Amino acid sequence: MAQQDYLLALYASPRKKGNTAILLDELVAGAGEAGLEATVFHVASMDIRPCRECNACYEDGKCVQNDDMQQIYPHLAAARVVAMAAPVFSMNICAQAKALIDRCQCLWSARYVLKQTPVDPAFEAVRGGFFISCCGRDAPETFDCTRPTMAYFFYIIQVGGWESLTFAAVDEAGAIRRVPGALESAHDSGRSIES
Ligand SMILES: Cc1cc2nc3c(=O)[nH]c(=O)nc-3n(C[C@H](O)[C@H](O)[C@H](O)COP(=O)(O)O)c2cc1C
Repeated sequence: MAQQDYLLALYASPRKKGNTAILLDELVAGAGEAGLEATVFHVASMDIRPCRECNACYEDGKCVQNDDMQQIYPHLAAARVVAMAAPVFSMNICAQAKALIDRCQCLWSARYVLKQTPVDPAFEAVRGGFFISCCGRDAPETFDCTRPTMAYFFYIIQVGGWESLTFAAVDEAGAIRRVPGALESAHDSGRSIES
């Protein structure tokens, strides 16, 4: 799939109208105002199984599991901007997001076992990423464990730079609407994506 100027929006929370989905909706809307169309996947509704560590991807850089992750793979290399919305579950990103990231092991294999370059370095340099998250505890350090995981994700899909939008003390669905400036900051992040 050719590398293109669009936003890949990955909604990973099982709560379809939950806090991280509301924030990602805002980011997508802002990006639309900036002229960047979005391709959307509701990851939690998809059949994305965990990595089986079969290491078949060491042979060709591809995953042998024939599930819905096959729809997402081409976009991970083709989209100029990748945004992942994933709440904190048990002190890290939710399992739906983690399964998707683990399934990127084939991209790691392509680069480091097979020495391929799935993403052109010139495109990698202009790619951007967003990590959107919320947690219930009123403790920003709750996001500490999410950051290395997300850094690894963006590194392995070859996104040059990424930002995070994280909000603590946000628990019941929709609570993010009551956080002053939260929706605006997500909207502005989308709108400020450079063309
Ligand atoms: C299974 C589960 C585990 C959770 N674990 C944590 C946690 O470890 N720390 C925390 O602060 N909040 C935790 N939460 C609360 C969620 O992070 C919070 O409700 C968040 O706003 C959910 O975002 P969403 O509406 O986008 O799904 C947990 C919620 C669930 C359902």
